[in-house]
Amino acid sequence: MHDFHYKGSELHAEDVPIEKIANKVGTPLYIYSHKTLVRHFNAFENAFNGYPHIICFALKANSNGAILRSLAKEGCGADVVSGGELFLAREAGIPPNKIVYAGVGKTTEEIRFALKSRILMFNIESSDELKAINTIAGQMKVKAPVALRVNPNINASTHPYISTGLKKHKFGIPMDDALENYLLASKQGNTEIKGIHCHIGSQITKISPFVEAVKRVLSLVRKLRKSGIDIQYLDMGGGLGITYDNEVSPYPIDLAKEIIPLVNKYNLTLILEPGRSIAGNAGILVTKVLYLKKSQKKEFVVVDAGMNDLLRPSLYEAYHHILPVKKNRRAEVKADVVGPICESGDFFARERTMNRPDHNDLLAVMSAGGYGFSMSSNYNSRLRPAEVLVKGKAFHVIREREQYRDLSRGVKIPGFLK
Ligand code: LLP
Repeated sequence: MHDFHYKGSELHAEDVPIEKIANKVGTPLYIYSHKTLVRHFNAFENAFNGYPHIICFALKANSNGAILRSLAKEGCGADVVSGGELFLAREAGIPPNKIVYAGVGKTTEEIRFALKSRILMFNIESSDELKAINTIAGQMKVKAPVALRVNPNINASTHPYISTGLKKHKFGIPMDDALENYLLASKQGNTEIKGIHCHIGSQITKISPFVEAVKRVLSLVRKLRKSGIDIQYLDMGGGLGITYDNEVSPYPIDLAKEIIPLVNKYNLTLILEPGRSIAGNAGILVTKVLYLKKSQKKEFVVVDAGMNDLLRPSLYEAYHHILPVKKNRRAEVKADVVGPICESGDFFARERTMNRPDHNDLLAVMSAGGYGFSMSSNYNSRLRPAEVLVKGKAFHVIREREQYRDLSRGVKIPGFLK
């Protein structure tokens, strides 16, 4: 599952002691395992081997250039949702014909940039957007390759903030309106229909919602083909869950076994957009214990990372394992692990039983490689952490820790204040 293991009492990333990296680079600090990352990508690649497919890593999970380049070198494509992500995907060497672009609010500039880049296809989220893309493509004298993102109305039974496939969600075009929109696309002079897209949510730990979604999408493909509209690509989005606590998620091979027989006779190229299942367990956040604090009701372990570094526990009440970088035999405590930010929601764990940490101990917040750094911010004017990639016995800083001067970069003081 991942390559962060104890050797003796010391937690290692592959063959490197975490403490060694933290001493050199400081904390808070993200550490990724190259081996885990590449293995997770290849689990998808191998599972769908033999059936035409493209694995498009969802950059929103992690868009560090070194992570992207590691995946690009294995043949990975990209699922992007902004001009910024498109820029990073291209910079990392991901071929444009393996890039798909989703998102409900693409701007004119972003659409132009994507058309100029000759991406594989736009995943269109509304009739309005479909018309806008056609107009922009016309101005640029090119054809816009499109797939319509349909909303199959599937309950992915995941956290409400990361479930996307229900009728009430802002994403996609309702199934009932899909044919009408495809007909519109087929009549637009500067639009080329390429595929169909759906994404039902994230951290999904069962296969059945994917199967159900694909079945519904295929029934639409049949209907479209009857109306003379051909579809080459079926993009089934991302969403496969990972183990944060003790949930058991299916493997890519389990997904492939169920999906390939369904799509087999349709002559479609499958696209998958995994993010978390590739990056999530390939990264950890390392933080240092600053203070131990006891109130009448509670014990707190105050660490040097905060919700600005890893937002998931605060935003989704997400569970992350927290491991000592050096095992100890101190008595157990039940404590909240909290950051330095001036918000009560700034926590990594609540009422967590752990061997009592000591000042300056290092803790590893596990499963932080997806939606960790990518959701970080400078809130409380904190410096965003460094990132390190480990490969075997070597480690490489892949993002410098920010410095104070980064906080005022781009800020301008108007003349009347000088
Ligand atoms: N494709 C589309 C269109 C998406 O909206 C997403 C995620 C993905 C692919 C990738 O899904 P994944 O394989 O990573 O589940 N910040 C949240 C997750 C938000 C996911 C949003 N969309 C979290 O930390 O749990």
